[in-house]
Amino acid sequence: MTERIFVLTGAGVSAESGLGTFRDAGGLWERYALAEVATPEGYRRDPGLVLGFYNARRAACAAASPNAAHRALARLEREWPGELTLVTQNIDDLHERADHARVWHMHGRIMAALCAACAHRWAWSGDMGPEHACPGCGRAGGVRPDVVWFGEMPYLLDEIWPRLERADLFVAIGTSGEVYPAAGFVAEAEAAGARTLEINLEPTAAVFDARRIGPASRTVPEWVEELLGPPGR
Ligand code: OAD
Repeated sequence: MTERIFVLTGAGVSAESGLGTFRDAGGLWERYALAEVATPEGYRRDPGLVLGFYNARRAACAAASPNAAHRALARLEREWPGELTLVTQNIDDLHERADHARVWHMHGRIMAALCAACAHRWAWSGDMGPEHACPGCGRAGGVRPDVVWFGEMPYLLDEIWPRLERADLFVAIGTSGEVYPAAGFVAEAEAAGARTLEINLEPTAAVFDARRIGPASRTVPEWVEELLGPPGR
């Protein structure tokens, strides 16, 4: 039986594309107060501040390009004969721009908008401001990025859990394992019988069966080549 692979990515997979991580030295949560910019309470208190924070994230995302790690994972999706599930905590669209067809964005997407009043969702590029109105209900003042904030329920968990539970191999790439529920995936997968692999610049505190340490742009293509052989065979 062909293996089912479940990959979880975090900010580290996009670090070499120039997008800052959250918890590394100089990371976003050293420069911004999480409670002010990434919570529903922060948005209610100061929508302009929160929208400005995500406008900067969206502009950085638009200016960035996928790196060799994103491309290697897209190749894995195309060529792996078994099930490949890619769940990302990242709100950027670099997996998609590397031609990854199916990405489960459990923390939402910066290139989409959500109306806090009527829950309408639509594609968004460029800056977002408190003056923008929802094309669904016409109301202004509730337009926000379609991202999951602290205190909100991550997206797609009902699709993600069964895929995690039937995985033969669980791989965490470039995530610190600090934010639940994603941080608990490795233990869930292990309990369900999967082998576990961490790919990261440095080992995290979580328990894995195996580790590959180094920058994702090198370690991910190396791992994928071991599974599939060299590209273009
Ligand atoms: P973190 O910033 O917490 O962790 C980034 C991880 O990437 C660390 O373990 C680094 O060692 C690793 N890393 C950095 N550069 C790397 C590279 N070039 N190659 C490989 N690994 C590298 O980011 P996440 O774990 O993704 O949530 O953070 C999880 C969630 O916390 C985010 O989705 C976000 C944040 O608060 C919300 O905003 C809801």
